Amino acid sequence: MNRRRASPTARTRPDRRAAERERLLEAGTRDHYEDAALYDYEYSDRTTDIRHYRKLARQLGEGQRVLELGAGTGRITVPLARDGHDVIALDAMPEMLAVLQRSITRLGFAERVRPLQADMRDVPLRDGEVDLVIAPFNALMHLYTWQDLLACFREAHRVLRPGGRFAFDVQIPDLEWLRWDPEARHAVTRFVHPVTRETLIYSTNHRYDPQTQVCHIRIFYDDAPPAGRRFVPPAKPKRLVHLAHRQIFPEEIRMLVATAGFELDSLTGDFDDRPLRDAKDSQVALCSRA
Ligand SMILES: C[S@@+](CC[C@H](N)C(=O)[O-])C[C@H]1O[C@@H](n2cnc3c(N)ncnc32)[C@H](O)[C@@H]1O
Repeated sequence: MNRRRASPTARTRPDRRAAERERLLEAGTRDHYEDAALYDYEYSDRTTDIRHYRKLARQLGEGQRVLELGAGTGRITVPLARDGHDVIALDAMPEMLAVLQRSITRLGFAERVRPLQADMRDVPLRDGEVDLVIAPFNALMHLYTWQDLLACFREAHRVLRPGGRFAFDVQIPDLEWLRWDPEARHAVTRFVHPVTRETLIYSTNHRYDPQTQVCHIRIFYDDAPPAGRRFVPPAKPKRLVHLAHRQIFPEEIRMLVATAGFELDSLTGDFDDRPLRDAKDSQVALCSRA
């Protein structure tokens, strides 16, 4: 008789791990975008990328037909519409698109912007329908496998007219940062929530899984202590936001671009044309559909 039969616990452990990973990826794609007003507040000082995408669209010609993948609240969409381009603003999250819809209505750009709730791996547009596809601010880092990434690159290629361009930016993997203590609290910052007006403490930590290349970031929001008192993280956070980011290495970008049928025109750093080896934050790519 075989005495070494697996116990029920041992048999189900891989399933539980897979289910937990799924749960984290699901939360890591949604949580950060459920409070769209807070998202806009947190990134209100990020403007270099807006200038980059505006300049690119302007250089390509007037009245470009643009598809933005992961358009969010319209941080980039709205300036492009203001410049006279027609933008299809695709995003998976209705909360983000609702803010975008309010902005374009208020600013009178409803004719020029089409919000589209969809998945960037399966774009409901016709072949060759647009001149320019953009995926700004790490949107592609929400595609967690090479199959998902390739599906998205192929969709970008399909919906572009011949000669059209695909431009995107993703974080440059920082191996030292990825190995930071996953239990410490970093970037501890006191702020006032833009809608509720609560005074809160923002802090983060992260755990990197080198097997999947996904970095699981936890963003904590806690009640702030009275002014002058030191913040001590409570055992249970007031709100915990999970953010999952697939690290995409430069050689993966080159491979995805080529496999989807694009020419890579440039892969540089930080929106100022610096060589990638000097990049501190972003890999900035521009490709052409031959
Ligand atoms: C970091 S935000 C960028 C938003 C906007 N482009 C900006 O620059 O502020 C990433 C966006 O991608 C969206 N997203 C994530 N996965 C997606 C998917 N598979 N399909 C469509 N949108 C997705 C999120 O909902 C989120 O709005």
